[in-house]
Amino acid sequence: MEDANVRDSTGYRSADRRLSTLGRHLGALSPSSAASRLPPMASENPTGTIAPSPTAGFYGGSVFAHVVQAPEDPILGVTVAYNKDPSPVKVNLGVGAYRTEEGKPLVLNVVRRAEQMLVNDPSRVKEYLPITGLAEFNKLSAKLIFGSDSPAIQENRVATVQCLSGTGSLRVGTEFLARHYRERTIYIPQPTWGNHPKVFTLGGLSVKTYRYYDPVTRGLNIQGLLEDLSSAPSGAIVLLHACAHNPTGVDPTLDQWEQIRKLMRSKGLLPFFDSAYQGFASGSLDADAQSVRMFVADGGECLMAQSYAKNMGLYGERVGALSIVCRSADVAVRVESQLKLVIRPMYSNPPIHGASIVAAILKDRALFHEWTVELKAMADRIISMRQMLFDALRARGTPGDWSHIIKQIGMFTFTGLNSEQVAFMTKEYHIYMTSDGRISMAGLSSKTVPHLADAIHAAVTRTN
Ligand SMILES: Cc1ncc(COP(=O)(O)O)c(C=O)c1O
Repeated sequence: MEDANVRDSTGYRSADRRLSTLGRHLGALSPSSAASRLPPMASENPTGTIAPSPTAGFYGGSVFAHVVQAPEDPILGVTVAYNKDPSPVKVNLGVGAYRTEEGKPLVLNVVRRAEQMLVNDPSRVKEYLPITGLAEFNKLSAKLIFGSDSPAIQENRVATVQCLSGTGSLRVGTEFLARHYRERTIYIPQPTWGNHPKVFTLGGLSVKTYRYYDPVTRGLNIQGLLEDLSSAPSGAIVLLHACAHNPTGVDPTLDQWEQIRKLMRSKGLLPFFDSAYQGFASGSLDADAQSVRMFVADGGECLMAQSYAKNMGLYGERVGALSIVCRSADVAVRVESQLKLVIRPMYSNPPIHGASIVAAILKDRALFHEWTVELKAMADRIISMRQMLFDALRARGTPGDWSHIIKQIGMFTFTGLNSEQVAFMTKEYHIYMTSDGRISMAGLSSKTVPHLADAIHAAVTRTN
């Protein structure tokens, strides 16, 4: 079979060639066959071609009339539905965004202070950043995840570039791998964050899954995970959630991480870490980075996509970093030069504001300390919501073992509710969540827990 990523002598990928051939083929279709595939407005077009004339819009038709309605994003679409619901008791547990006890979005005090400092500093300008972003931010980000005493950093073996939050970091890393790495298959956990397969596929990799979650124990399927990675081809890329696995809230123990590391290193599998929740899982930045540090400590190579969306509450500022840990400093220099070639035609260079906030906080001892206190408070509030929901279900005598609610970690609980039960809870109780039964614990408060517990109780006792 043809490999979608193989390039011909002009550097053109076979997948691109196939797309353009498909486009030409569609354009050359006979009027009747083309028209029969178009929606009514376009098929009224007498020539039957997709875009008959650049001025078609002038005569009432649209040159885009053939464009079909795309489905909503499965996660962000939950918020769209929630916003349309006029009910005063509605609760949005779909999107992974922290809310206060009052149900309001939170801007950390430390972020407000850092922003104030930036505003008051007349030397700050709005010039373009370099392609790789704010150098100080990159250094501090690598230290935050790998540890300030990391040998990889001390030996200058880490190439870090500022990217557009976690998603942008994953995408840049993917495009780099598709161009420069010999193996183009990435193994992702089953299940995983819904955007992963899309980012990796569109970035030029092919996606396979490894077993991760065991619905019976509602815990990690370590046996299945190890078996699947054992049978992956040598050199394959493996996506690992650094902590607070989304959507399951199930993380390997440190012993299990060690088993995974040994297996991956012995088979030459390349780790691609996604760290979207450092500090959010346990409340400790260092504890949540332990899995990553184990892999970096062995001297091997890996990729790391970091996000400040959740742990600094900088969701909309789109601040993140991609680091590639290399064997040697000279490889890291060349890797960085190629990352620039990925970034420049994509978005040229990253935004300055969010990265400046992060750098201001990470480099100042007092601000850093203040951040860790606020971060711990967010993590603790989520943990207390777990306990409260568990207690509320127990108090109602809701059938089933709900201990996974307190065992799982991070922003989400994978409740085990099925899509029919989810639909029931949305219809009858105005509770919005993804259809896989995932709820964002960060969206709950002591006021909404009883309502959620009532809804779960009703869903479990009435719908099966
Ligand atoms: C596992 C995981 N990775 C990456 C992201 C990316 O988030 P962002 O692009 O907002 O940093 C998310 C966000 O929900 C996530 O859950």
